[in-house]
Amino acid sequence: MASEAPSEAPKESEEEDVQRSGREILRVEGVRKAFRKRVVLHDFNLSVCEGENLAILGKSGSGKSVLLRIVTGLLEPDEGRVLLWGQDTTGFREEDWWPLLRRMGMVFQSCALFDSMSVTENVAFPLHERRSLPEREVHRITEERLEWVGLAGIGHLRPSELSGGMRRRVAIARTLAADPEFVLYDEPTTGLDPITGRKIASLMRDMDKKLKSTSILVTHDIDCARTVSTRWAYLAGGRVLADGSPDSFFASPHPEVREFLLGEESAQDLPGMDLEEGPR
Ligand SMILES: Nc1ncnc2c1ncn2[C@@H]1O[C@H](COP(=O)(O)OP(=O)(O)O)[C@@H](O)[C@H]1O
Ligand SMILES: [Mg+2]
Repeated sequence: MASEAPSEAPKESEEEDVQRSGREILRVEGVRKAFRKRVVLHDFNLSVCEGENLAILGKSGSGKSVLLRIVTGLLEPDEGRVLLWGQDTTGFREEDWWPLLRRMGMVFQSCALFDSMSVTENVAFPLHERRSLPEREVHRITEERLEWVGLAGIGHLRPSELSGGMRRRVAIARTLAADPEFVLYDEPTTGLDPITGRKIASLMRDMDKKLKSTSILVTHDIDCARTVSTRWAYLAGGRVLADGSPDSFFASPHPEVREFLLGEESAQDLPGMDLEEGPR
């Protein structure tokens, strides 16, 4: 049974605006990460519960991608620990990560699609890699995921034949193919024109709802964060400076948060450019 929210208790922090009833999926405790003398994360703490859709906002270079790489075991923290589904990953070897990574999905800015494969083969890739499913089932799931992202009928094309927005859709379809419980998006709208960016954000929101997944969206796109995430955290100086509902952010007393929100809002009024990466 879900515990009742302590409605009588006085509000201690902005975080209370956010419903946090699910079990903890991710816990980052006292993490420090430095590259040579540059300290990127410092006594960093974060907890994400089941069903939460969290956006991590912050300026470029603030350590958002480093955090995602630590959470997925691609980088090891210098200090502190990362728990996933309650499991402490400290000292994990590569193969120890595999069962956890199977439950997670990642969408990178670059999309990381295989240009030598068709769209269908790209989407089917995690299914071949992770499970021994009959070919007919792989085909069914692949077609279904492409339909979910609005790309039915283009499975025979190569990623290089697609626009930037379509490639993001394929990357999302591929991530969703393996039914992840916890999805991490790293700047999924960066480099897209504003209209395409909005469509991708709506797609992510719809997918989170449909699959009831837990997600972390790393972005500096306020519009995207507003569409996708109900809880926001602002990363600065190596730690979470503010954590709460989007509304609490717009009323934030932190000058840096305000400056960031204002800067991004006005940047979004500027005419956009599709900075799509060409085929490599
Ligand atoms: N492998 C690395 N080696 C050295 N410095 C790195 C490495 N990865 C990230 N950094 C530095 O860490 C800081 C944070 O990077 P990053 O997490 O990518 O920022 P962002 O918030 O834009 O995603 C940057 O100053 C970056 O140069
Ligand atoms: Mg980044």
